[in-house]
Amino acid sequence: MRVKLGFGYVYARLSNLTSVAPSARLTVEVFAGRIRVFRSCGEYWMRRKLVVGNWKMHGRMASNTVLLNKVVAGVRDLKGADFAVCVPYPYLAQAQSMLQATNVAWGAQNLNQYEEGAFTGAVSPGMLSDFACRYVIIGHSERRGLFHESNDIASAKFDAALKAGMTPIFCVGETLAERDAGVTEQIVATQLDAVLDRAGTKGLAKAVVAYEPVWAIGTGKTASPVQAQAVHLFIRQRVAKQDSQVAQALCILYGGSVKAANAAELFAMPDIDGGLIGGAALIADDFIAICRAAQK
Ligand code: PGA
Repeated sequence: MRVKLGFGYVYARLSNLTSVAPSARLTVEVFAGRIRVFRSCGEYWMRRKLVVGNWKMHGRMASNTVLLNKVVAGVRDLKGADFAVCVPYPYLAQAQSMLQATNVAWGAQNLNQYEEGAFTGAVSPGMLSDFACRYVIIGHSERRGLFHESNDIASAKFDAALKAGMTPIFCVGETLAERDAGVTEQIVATQLDAVLDRAGTKGLAKAVVAYEPVWAIGTGKTASPVQAQAVHLFIRQRVAKQDSQVAQALCILYGGSVKAANAAELFAMPDIDGGLIGGAALIADDFIAICRAAQK
C-alpha cells in the first residue's frame, strides 16, 4: 500500500491491526478505519475503509457458525480495509472465539451508559469489555425511534463506550419527513453536536460516525452516492470547524440498504469511508462482496 505524505511517498505493507515499522524512522499503525503514520518530523492520520455488519436481532448459534466461517474465509486475504460484525449480546462469546485470530473484529449493537446497578435487562460497557468488543453501535435510528433514545442518552452511551476503551460507531440520520422538510443538515448537526458537546473532538477522534438516513434503512431505497456524499461532507466540515485534523481523519460510514450491487459506487465517493451493513450482512456472499468493494 502506498501512503502519501506531504513530502513524498512512503511504501508500507499494511495488514489488519498490526503495527509495522517499515524503517527505523517510520512507524505505521492501523486502527479502526484509520492509519497513523509516525515519522521523526510528525504524526499523520489517514482514513482507511471500514465495513461493519449490523446483524440487528438476527442469528442463532448454528447459523452464526456457518455465516462467520464463510465471512472469515471470504475476507481473509483482503488487507486493504477493516472489517467487523456487531452481533446480538448472547453471541458475543461465539463471535469472540470464532474471530479472535482473524481480520474480522466484533462488537455489540448497544450498551447501557451506567457501569452497574438495578437496570434489569441492561448490559454495561464493562460487560462488553469482558468479551473484548472493539466496537459498539451507538444511537442507531432503531434505538432512537423504537426505544426512545434521546440525543442526550446517545451521547452518554458514546462517552461510556469510550471510557471502556471501545470504538463507538455513532449513528446519525434524518427521517423522510425531515428530508422532505429540508432539515436534514439541522437534524444531523443536532445529533452530532450532542456528542461533540459531551466528548469533544478528542472523543470523536476515537470514534466512527455512520450516516444512516432513516428512510433508507431496511427499505431497499439507498441514498444516491451524491446524496450520501453531500451529508458526509457536511459532517466532516462541521467537525473541521472545531478541529480540521480530527475531521480529516474521521471515518464516516454510510448505512442504509447497502448491497453488493451499489457498494462500490458509494465507497468511491471522497467522504464515504465504508459502510454499516444491515440486511446484506446476513448473507455471507453479499457481505464478502461489499468487503471486496471497500478495498478497491
Ligand atoms: P440495512 O440496515 O442495510 O438493512 O438498510 C443498515 C443499518 O440499519 O445499519
